Amino acid sequence: MSAYTDRIAEAADALRARGVDGADVAIVLGSGLGAFAETLPGGVRVPYGEIPHWPAAKVIGHAGVLASGLVGGRRVIALSGRAHFYEGHPLTDVTFAMRVLGALGVPRVILTNAAGGINTRFATGALMLIDDHLNFLGSNPLIGPSDPALGARFPDMTEIYSRRLRALATEVAAVQGIPIEHGIYVAVHGPSYETPAEIRAFRVLGADAVGMSTAPEAIVARQMGLEVLGISCISNPAAGVVDAPLNHEDVMAVTTRVRGQFIQLLEGIVGRL
Ligand code: HPA
Repeated sequence: MSAYTDRIAEAADALRARGVDGADVAIVLGSGLGAFAETLPGGVRVPYGEIPHWPAAKVIGHAGVLASGLVGGRRVIALSGRAHFYEGHPLTDVTFAMRVLGALGVPRVILTNAAGGINTRFATGALMLIDDHLNFLGSNPLIGPSDPALGARFPDMTEIYSRRLRALATEVAAVQGIPIEHGIYVAVHGPSYETPAEIRAFRVLGADAVGMSTAPEAIVARQMGLEVLGISCISNPAAGVVDAPLNHEDVMAVTTRVRGQFIQLLEGIVGRL
């Protein structure tokens, strides 16, 4: 066992000791979407600071709590808040939560985020299923010594976002009457927002939405064989799409405005897993 796998095992053991022992699905809640974790009945709440080696989530809009409970008869672990690359965490820390979920035997994860809309057809507040991503972090969470306990050295990523879960989410959205977009998510470093020239370049490359998270978590989850679903809340038109400056407060305001619909969609998906 490496020191990294020791840390993962210690965190998983600590969670088991608190009664969090596996789940049917884990959900990572992006900026402003933490409300989902507050609605989970019949479970426990563990602040990140009480889980050994777990990186703190310090961004406004991220509570930093792991909550477990039942949703539609399914056991759910909700992570309210995530570590970001732009905070200075190495990608092994950014994806530590995924590793612990894997160690707990969680078979699938729903990654949510707030993202800027590059596709000019996207309305602010729209929800987008992530069909695939472009990793523009300039790094990869799997860099480092290869540990077979964690997964393959060269894991396949051809279907990083599960086709089955995307179809299920599309169906649930249709039944609920929630409009849903599909698209490609480009992950960037941040923390500065992009320039209009960068957004034009990403559009040429095929990106529909831009954000500062999710891709590393998806890569790691997939390496471990978890099914991954990604959903972006289009919280703002990306830089230069409209003639207005970007700020985190507006991002938060939009995600807060649509969170009722977002939670309804998540509950619908979880209930049909
Ligand atoms: N760019 C990058 N990350 C984001 C954005 C954006 O426009 N909106 C929300 N997260």
